[in-house]
Amino acid sequence: MNMRSRIYSGAEPEQVAADIAPLLDFQEDGIPLEELSEMIESRLVPHFVMYDDPGFHSFYNFFPEKAAALGAETALKYNQGVTNWQVSPGGVMLEELCCKAFCKLYGLPEKAEGTFMYSGTYANQEALYLALHRKAEQCGFDLSKKGLSGFEDPSKLVVITSREAHFSVDHAVRILGLGDQSIITVGVDEKRRIDKVELKKTIEAVQNTHVVFCVVITAGTTCTGSIDPVQPVIEICEGLDTWIHVDAAYGLAFALLDEFKHLFSGIENADSITWDPHKQFGVPIPNSLLFVNNSADFERIAVYSEYFNKKKEDVPNPGLKSPPSTRPLTALSLVAVLRHLGIKGMSDRLRAPLEAVKELSIRLENEPDIEIMHTPELGILCIRIIPTEFPPENLDQLQVEIFNRLMKEGKRSVSESRIDGKAVLRILALSPDITVDILLETIDYLRTIAKNLMEA
Ligand SMILES: Cc1ncc(COP(=O)(O)O)c(C=O)c1O
Repeated sequence: MNMRSRIYSGAEPEQVAADIAPLLDFQEDGIPLEELSEMIESRLVPHFVMYDDPGFHSFYNFFPEKAAALGAETALKYNQGVTNWQVSPGGVMLEELCCKAFCKLYGLPEKAEGTFMYSGTYANQEALYLALHRKAEQCGFDLSKKGLSGFEDPSKLVVITSREAHFSVDHAVRILGLGDQSIITVGVDEKRRIDKVELKKTIEAVQNTHVVFCVVITAGTTCTGSIDPVQPVIEICEGLDTWIHVDAAYGLAFALLDEFKHLFSGIENADSITWDPHKQFGVPIPNSLLFVNNSADFERIAVYSEYFNKKKEDVPNPGLKSPPSTRPLTALSLVAVLRHLGIKGMSDRLRAPLEAVKELSIRLENEPDIEIMHTPELGILCIRIIPTEFPPENLDQLQVEIFNRLMKEGKRSVSESRIDGKAVLRILALSPDITVDILLETIDYLRTIAKNLMEA
């Protein structure tokens, strides 16, 4: 295992800017590759974060697995671009078959189809566009022709989701030309999953006054990794005639594990699903997919041209499903890593952090100076450090200060978030090398920082 004394420099922005300035000193004459390489290594790399270090527990980033790197390097060497048949017949076919293979692995219907996206954010955006497009059809017009003006009253268009949904849903709504008022957020239950009772009430309250064009279910919330109950939500939404999107950017990978499959039950009935293999499959960023329940759904996003993306081509054309004309061939790293590790190897890789975090939560249960904020479902645990007799009104400030100090020291990495308005320290495990002991060391480190701050 590769643990470093520092996993990032902890430098202030001014220092980082000063160190990397020579790289941006564009001049008439270039510099030799060796000098360039030395400049990057000495000036920029120290300010990178070493994601592969088991002490890194803050974001969904990780070093590529060897096989994934092989896939990425091969694409870079020969055929880095994909999108249409003329650019890469092999890449296109690999993408198409890879999407189909994952539809099968995740138990999606025969007619389901997927496409690669630049990121989960864009997958969510496309899903909401497809949802709005179908709503327009139900209202008797073509969204691609009339846009929002085709709706009787666009201010009545709404998306319902939980307040734990990722902010990319807000982006998606804005990009559709709708305001934040078009998002109705529902509260969460004790497991931080969408509250079914509140959802029902919300639907009853708005279904005759608003047009609900999409309900977004989150399968693996960003803050706590909670999985909204997919099938029950779909059933509650029956009769609403709305598009059901599952944002499983973080969670879907875990549907591979037998013991977690039941938590994703119902995804096969959703209209669309976002998945980010770049979050925990050990593949380079970007690696994201959007699945739809029925391949015909993608026709709603297709834009044809005379140059390419022509109508009636008899070869597959992913550019009609995923808009960028230039897109990297990321399917190869995904295919390579799963082929190399096998489903069993990948499952073991996915399980290690889940088990470590679950065990951490058990070990901390009776620690008086730790407040556990939720039961961890998918490898994330949010806690608060609550030293004895510390004034409760200053606890939020303490968590923030611990986080700031941690960032400066650069030895470990957790993130800082809010749960029900309270500041929390969020520990996310992704590394297959993570163990409960490493996580406990991080907890002790957080305690030490708290102690030092109190003594200062
Ligand atoms: C639940 C969820 N959805 C969407 C996203 C956005 O994905 P990306 O960062 O690939 O744009 C994230 C990112 O963390 C997420 O946690």
